[in-house]
Amino acid sequence: MTSSAVDTQEIFKQGIFKGKILLCSGGGTGICRDMTESIVRHGAKAVIVSRKIDKLQKAAEEMSKSAGGEVFAVQADVRKPEDVERAVAEAIKKFGRIDFLINGAAGNFLAPFEKLSYNAIKTVIEIDLLGTINLTKAVLPYLKASKGSIINVSMTLQYRGVPLQSHAGAAKAGIDALTRHWATEFGPSGIRVNGIAPGPIAATEGMKRLLSKQATPRTIPLQRFGELGDVSQSGVFLFSEAANYITGLTVVVDGGHWLTTSSS
Ligand code: HXC
Repeated sequence: MTSSAVDTQEIFKQGIFKGKILLCSGGGTGICRDMTESIVRHGAKAVIVSRKIDKLQKAAEEMSKSAGGEVFAVQADVRKPEDVERAVAEAIKKFGRIDFLINGAAGNFLAPFEKLSYNAIKTVIEIDLLGTINLTKAVLPYLKASKGSIINVSMTLQYRGVPLQSHAGAAKAGIDALTRHWATEFGPSGIRVNGIAPGPIAATEGMKRLLSKQATPRTIPLQRFGELGDVSQSGVFLFSEAANYITGLTVVVDGGHWLTTSSS
C-alpha cells in the first residue's frame, strides 16, 4: 500500500497563490471543489461556476470558511455561451482579473452506444467538450492579460477504450487534444495549458457512477483508490511556479490504473 494524499501546505509554501484569481467550472462538487479549496488555501480567491446555484452557494460558503479565503459562486450552464460570458463578466466585476482557469464541468453515465439517444450523446459532448471551449474562449483575454494558466480536467478511459463510455471518451479525447493545441497557440502569450486525467478517486460522482461495485484496488499498481487530495496536489503543482516550463501535458493521476485495467 502506498501512502495517501498529502497536505500541500506541508510541501508548498503558504501564500504561493496570493493575489491570484481562479475560475473553476464544476467547482461546487467533487474533484474540482477540492482543487479549488486547495488553491484557495494557498492564497488565491476563487469563482466557482455550475448550473445549480443553491448547491454552489453552499459550497462557496463552506469553502470560504474551511480554506480561510474568498470563494464566490456564479450560476452558469457551460453549454450556453451567453451564460459563460455573463459568469466571466461577474468574476471580473468581483475580482478584476483571472489568473487560473479549471475546466472541470462534466456530465457522464454508463450506456451502450446503441442505446444512447442523439440527445444523450449531444448532452455529454456539449457539457464536457463544448463547455471547455466556451469557457476558455470567454476567459482567454483575461488570461492573456495575467499570463495565466489553464487546467483541463479529463479522464483515462479514452486511452484504451472501454465499453459504455464512447460518448464521454470522445469528449475527453477532444479535451486532451485542446490541451495540446492551446498549449502551442497560447504559449507565446505566456499562458500555460495542461490537463489532469484522474483515475478512480474515492467519494466522487465519477467513481459512484462509473466503477462497478466489485471494483478492487488490487489491480491498481499503487494498490489503492485515489483520494481527492491526490488530484488537488497535482493541480497546485501545475499552477505553481514549480511547473513554469510545463505546458501541453495531461498529468494522469490514477496510481497506474489505466495501464493495468481494461474496463471500469
Ligand atoms: C442513457 C441518459 C442517461 C443514462 C441521461 N440520459 N442519463 N441516457 N443513460 N444514464 C439522456 C436523457 O434521456 C436525455 O436524452 C439526455 O441524456 C439529456 O439528459 P437530461 O437529464 O435532460 O440532461 P441534463 O439535465 O443536462 O443532465 C446532464 C446529464 C446528468 C449528464 C445527463 O447526468 C448530469 O447533469 N450529470 C452531472 C454530474 C455528472 O454526471 N458527474 C459525473 C462526471 S464523471 P433524451 O433523448 O431522453 O432527451 C466524469 C469522469 C469520469 O465525467 C472518470 C471515471 C474514472
